[in-house]
Amino acid sequence: MTSATTDLDSTAGSVPATYSPDAAFIASANADGALYERAASDQLGFWADQARRLQWDQPWTQVLDWSDAPVAKWFIDGKLNVAYNCVDRHVIDGHGEQVAIHWEGEPGDSRDITYSELLAEVSRAANYLTELGMRAGDRVAIYMPMVPEAIVSMLACARLGLTHSVVFAGFSPTALRQRVDDAEARLVITTDGQWRRGAAAPLKAAVDEALDGAPSSVEHVLVVRRTNIDVLWTEGRDLWWHDTVTDASPDHQAQGFDAEHPLFILYTSGTTGKPKGILHTTGGYLTQASYTHHNVFDHKAGHDVYWCTADIGWVTGHSYIVYGPLSNRATQVVYEGTPNSPDEHRHFEIIEKYGVTIYYTAPTLVRTFMKWGRQIPDAHNLSSLRLLGSVGEPINPEAWRWYRDVIGGNRTPIVDTWWQTETGAIMISPLPGVTATKPGAAMAPLPGISAKIVDDEGTELDSGRSGLLVLDQPWPSMLRGIWNDMDRFRETYWDRFAAAGWYFAGDGAKLDTDGDLWILGRVDDVMNVSGHRISTAEVESALVGHAGVAEAAVVGASDDTTGQAIVAFVILTADTAASGRLQVARNSADNTGAALIAELKAEVSREISPIARPREIHIVPELPKTRSGKIMRRLLRDVAEGRELGDTSTLVDPKVFETIARG
Ligand code: WT7
Repeated sequence: MTSATTDLDSTAGSVPATYSPDAAFIASANADGALYERAASDQLGFWADQARRLQWDQPWTQVLDWSDAPVAKWFIDGKLNVAYNCVDRHVIDGHGEQVAIHWEGEPGDSRDITYSELLAEVSRAANYLTELGMRAGDRVAIYMPMVPEAIVSMLACARLGLTHSVVFAGFSPTALRQRVDDAEARLVITTDGQWRRGAAAPLKAAVDEALDGAPSSVEHVLVVRRTNIDVLWTEGRDLWWHDTVTDASPDHQAQGFDAEHPLFILYTSGTTGKPKGILHTTGGYLTQASYTHHNVFDHKAGHDVYWCTADIGWVTGHSYIVYGPLSNRATQVVYEGTPNSPDEHRHFEIIEKYGVTIYYTAPTLVRTFMKWGRQIPDAHNLSSLRLLGSVGEPINPEAWRWYRDVIGGNRTPIVDTWWQTETGAIMISPLPGVTATKPGAAMAPLPGISAKIVDDEGTELDSGRSGLLVLDQPWPSMLRGIWNDMDRFRETYWDRFAAAGWYFAGDGAKLDTDGDLWILGRVDDVMNVSGHRISTAEVESALVGHAGVAEAAVVGASDDTTGQAIVAFVILTADTAASGRLQVARNSADNTGAALIAELKAEVSREISPIARPREIHIVPELPKTRSGKIMRRLLRDVAEGRELGDTSTLVDPKVFETIARG
């Protein structure tokens, strides 16, 4: 079928090759083509315009100082308060009664929070954190499920100039401890427990476990009661939110902080076992988070009901649940649970209940919906939706079309947004009222952003050729470094194209013959499982942490639902191999052999997080290595994906695969 909004490609039968916005969308869109022209003619002037969308306590004297590259300074001498921009100013402007958050708890409880109420909550938390002795520059770890207090905590930190480090509540005590130690957090904010598929699971217990043993920098643990689950209590250290924050004064005067004041640290996986604390600052970050949320999602304050399904434990939650939407006075849905709790209708019920107009999620969830079947969304009235977004991994054209047809009623534009924890905000994406989109393509850098696709030598590639994605101009929300490790910051992102001064993103990309940009996925040893970034080295180190494992190699193999799945190859220690457990493990016929493999999978879940649990573990006698001892993951990927082996000529022992296959 055809519609006014689809452009048929004569060579592809009835499948539209591109999807143009319809006239009504174009007419009322926040962004038009002029935005590209303005940015191209005066990039710094353009970013200054965007920064003026915020309220500054002191104006900047210079837009960008790049003299200390690769550490940028944006909006020099400017001062602003992030929480004031996200909350107070909307109340002062007369929108105190507007709902900021429609919060939907997993067990079915819900709570609407207006901007006035949010201001009171954030002010109480800010007053109490001040009373606790927290001072601007101190670090606070936030280890919480998707409860309103998590957002309140982030905003209270921002308000006081405390640098928050949100740690995903699915991470293990070990992972939490590593992050708390690296940032030297003085305070951890958590909940007693969290709801997961109808059951209360402990969370504070994980904080206790993390802080047990060696002394840490943590002075207090502030605990929100969510599930009423039993908790152990350390007198003097532990504090209930409802005994402290709740009683604090709801009035608090925000003060402006320097544009380069550290706003948050967010740990993400790199190519080694040690996570990187990505540092973001204040003025540039908020400018770009706000600008992109306004233009990419075409957000209309007071009209739209926006829902980003991410968790605040990831950068998407920081930029597109907290800072971007709230700075733009959004009314948004925040949902605590999983999409199939109590059943697969949950997201669609929420869309109907609140009349969601903008829905932003990950391709893995779209593919999960596809698997569940269209009868589920079809049972709901989703006509309120007017824009859909995708983030976290490349979206395959089939999933893109299904998303648009089934969820979007073949009506809504889709914005496929490419960015990273490091970029802080969206970099490459269609503009929904401008771009004729192609299923699967991120299309073009946003106005103000510049990217190139180059070969290993940095030569720009012609259309059709795959290469490396680089960002060749600084941008306001760029990372300012890796916490405690500026050498690694330079090495990881800047050394590759040091002469040109470009940022190397770690992704492959290509331009098609129309000049439209396609992201091809990571080119380094970073996996992407359901949009979560996990390093092969991290999983390998968890595996070799098990006494029975001598060596491990991990690869990401393509998976229909999760994009990539983790496949591990392990060599057992001689003792374990001799103990007969290997025989047991190999003997899958009676299934008893699964025991050791199950134990290893559990070990990875425990050490890192359930999201890092391997889909498959193969016990093998040897691993394919080059003469320099480097494991050839490319070949293991071939094995994991059942492909014919690529070039094995550089292997020390090309026969290794016979034994791997037998293993
Ligand atoms: C990596 C960054 C951006 C927030 C969530 C993930 C991949 C992200 C897309 C997209 C293709 C994408 C890249 C990137 N990625 N968005 N629209 N199309 N790939 O943040 O954990 O920092 O991961 O996610 O590989 O490098 P992150």
